[in-house]
Amino acid sequence: MRNAKSTSKLPNVGTTIFTEMSAMAQAHGALNMSQGFPDFQPPKPLQAAVVAAMAKGRNQYAPMAGDIRLREWIAADAERRSGACFHPDTEVTIGAGASSLIFATIQALIHPGDEVMVLTPCYDLYEPAVELAGGRLVCVPLQADTHRLDLEAMKASWTESIRMVVINVPNNPTGSTWSREDLHGLAELVEGTNALVLSDEVYGPMHHDGRDVLSVTHEPRLRERAVVFASFGKILHCTGWKIGYATAPAALTGEIRKVHQYDVFSTGAPFQAGIEAFLNSDAGATHLSELAPFYQSKRDRLIEGLKGSRWQVSPAEGGYFQLLGYGAFDERDDRTATADWCSRAEGLALIPLSPFYPEGENDSKLVRICFAKNNDTIDQGIQRLLKISNG
Ligand SMILES: Cc1ncc(COP(=O)(O)O)c(C=O)c1O
Repeated sequence: MRNAKSTSKLPNVGTTIFTEMSAMAQAHGALNMSQGFPDFQPPKPLQAAVVAAMAKGRNQYAPMAGDIRLREWIAADAERRSGACFHPDTEVTIGAGASSLIFATIQALIHPGDEVMVLTPCYDLYEPAVELAGGRLVCVPLQADTHRLDLEAMKASWTESIRMVVINVPNNPTGSTWSREDLHGLAELVEGTNALVLSDEVYGPMHHDGRDVLSVTHEPRLRERAVVFASFGKILHCTGWKIGYATAPAALTGEIRKVHQYDVFSTGAPFQAGIEAFLNSDAGATHLSELAPFYQSKRDRLIEGLKGSRWQVSPAEGGYFQLLGYGAFDERDDRTATADWCSRAEGLALIPLSPFYPEGENDSKLVRICFAKNNDTIDQGIQRLLKISNG
């Protein structure tokens, strides 16, 4: 075995920027507002429901497609929100976080030579998944000012080989959302083509300032060609449990499950049972209805604290990330700048934006901060941000 050699299938892929920045934060004792997870706990009744499920013996494999009662809740929730009907048996699949199902979907549906349109900046999972499937990315920038879909640019970059368009709303890292006109425009763009829509909606209900919570399934013309992803980790403050789901028409779901059953097979039985019990309780309904205002107040606290400073802030429309522009006080590229800010005596870990551009470096002078944090953490973050911008 000493001479055994392997050739990397992903030669350009290293450790993700999230792991890199969290490790750097730990090494320097910096405040970590980089990676996207809360520093508070899931609701107590949810924790209790998971513990109860364990005590009741829900500790062996869950069904491959997921706990049926949780799938029924997911189908009912989708119908309540957008009128879309998914059959829990054949059109809803629960996986190890949304990530595992996004990965399975791309492996199942993308063939060598297929092209996949992604909108940049974009979440870093899509590129390696497409590469492993033998596909090729077609990168189209989001609009420079609003970070919303640029339908004209998407049309201009369209090719016959595009088999999938990846959308992520609310968007990580930019916090942008979309409008009904965007949904209509997307439907028109893909009409008559062979392209599927992969809609990554893991920050789903977190739309701020009273915006409509719009899913790709609100547009009936897109339902037949869309795979939609959601994450209980994100909406229930339990990212470490890694429970997410995908909804898609039966034919697409069948193909996705062919990969899922040999990759993840099934995931966290007591977590699924506990989540189902919580979501079907009054406490669960209240949690979901309060989620958007809960995160909006954290976003507002951060923005208020930076008022009058040299950080440039355009309020996130959704999700739990805020972009911060530093061009007014620092000329360095984003990787150099964030590494320096993290290593200072009163350090702060943020995420540079350039890793979200698969086509190469960019010079937007923007960084991403996660405000899914206790108010004390946000206040400490504000103090450190002000020290950074004051030089
Ligand atoms: C846009 C986006 N998609 C997918 C995921 C992964 O979700 P999960 O933790 O459920 O796998 C994340 C997590 O940060 C994300 O930001």
